[in-house]
Amino acid sequence: MSYLNLDTTKTEKTVEQLNILLADYHLYYQKLRNFHWNVEGLNFFDLHEKFEEMYDDAKEKIDEIAERILTLRHTPVSNLTEYLKLTNIEESSSEYEDMKMVDILLTDHGKIIDQMRKIVEVADDANDEGTIDLIGAYIRELEKTSWMLDVWTKKLR
Ligand SMILES: [Fe+2]
Repeated sequence: MSYLNLDTTKTEKTVEQLNILLADYHLYYQKLRNFHWNVEGLNFFDLHEKFEEMYDDAKEKIDEIAERILTLRHTPVSNLTEYLKLTNIEESSSEYEDMKMVDILLTDHGKIIDQMRKIVEVADDANDEGTIDLIGAYIRELEKTSWMLDVWTKKLR
C-alpha cells in the first residue's frame, strides 16, 4: 500500500472500523428487505416503496465500503457469520407494526452514525482524507434520511 502513503498501523485501525460498518450495513440492508416485504396497513404503499429506496441505497454503500477497504489494500469481511459477530445492529422480527419498523430503523441509524463517527476519528488520525470524505458524506445522508423519517412519523402520530 505504499502508493497511498498512509501509515500502515493507523490504516489497520481504520479498516477494522470499516469492516464493522460493512457488517452493520449488511444487517441494516436485510432488515430493510424484511420490512419492505412484511409491512402492513394503511401506510403500506408509502413504506413499501420507501424501504426499497433505502435498501437500494444501502446496497450501493455496502459495495463502496468494501471497495474502500480494498483500496486501502485490505480484505473486506465477506461472509454472513462474520457480519453477525461484528455488527452493532440487531436482527428484527417481521411482525412489527409499521410505526415500530420506522422507530427501529431510526435507532439503527443512530448506531450506524456512531460507527461512522468512529471511522472518521481513526481515519483522521491516519490523515486518511479519502475515507473521511466517503464516510462524512454518508453521515450527512443518513442524518437527512433520519430527519425525514422522524417528521413523517410525527405527522401520523
Ligand atoms: Fe419488492
